[in-house]
Amino acid sequence: MSAPRRPLVAGNWKMHKTAGEAREFCTALAVLVGAEPPVDVAVCPPFTALEASVDALADTSIAVCAQNVHEAASGAHTGEVSAPMLLAAGVDGALVGHSERRAAGDTDAQVALRVRAGIDAGLTVVLCCGESLDIRRAGDTQRFVTRQVESALADVHAADLPRLVIAYEPIWAIGTGETATPEQAQEACAIVRSVASERVDGASLRILYGGSVNPGNAAELMACPDVDGALVGGASLDPESFARIVAAAG
Ligand code: PGA
Repeated sequence: MSAPRRPLVAGNWKMHKTAGEAREFCTALAVLVGAEPPVDVAVCPPFTALEASVDALADTSIAVCAQNVHEAASGAHTGEVSAPMLLAAGVDGALVGHSERRAAGDTDAQVALRVRAGIDAGLTVVLCCGESLDIRRAGDTQRFVTRQVESALADVHAADLPRLVIAYEPIWAIGTGETATPEQAQEACAIVRSVASERVDGASLRILYGGSVNPGNAAELMACPDVDGALVGGASLDPESFARIVAAAG
């Protein structure tokens, strides 16, 4: 029997909050979620606010993740940040393959290398996947998500499980206010679990739903059997709103 999956609620701030604003947010969030939240909680600030967030959350159980990580440890990669750099900054993990990064040019091959580099360095990697509206309308969601996950996990092995989380985020639900129905979220997360099971113990792998999660819809989405938490964008920017989503997961 696999251990029950502890839910994870992660807030993806995208390009929001200065270091000072991050410090203020983290201090407020720590009070709201309390010393021992019943679920894992993480924030994903922009690079410039990582250290302030790590510092403000030092005595809490709230984790800090970057929004991307480069596959190389160092080198001539202007504008990029490596896994060892994140680790040295006290960061716990990184998103990899967010659809906004893929739209900006991150390729499937890079995503697979970044998953590997992040895990190798000791970061927890939150691999993001999800289809566009065109793909969903064409009835191609299963095939597309399967390929994305297979490609991203090509070099992942059973021992990597503790450092791997997957977030299913349909692009048409990101920042649009349109959420997948619990049935759609469940169906896609079950597909992700079955594909990932070829690489790691799927029964123990945490799979999050993301896409317009808010305090009003979080509980029913996270109640789905294959949804183990949420990756939250817009509704994670306010500490009270984010704390309500954390409470809905517990
Ligand atoms: P959203 O963003 O909650 O604002 O839709 C989610 C995400 O992109 O991770």
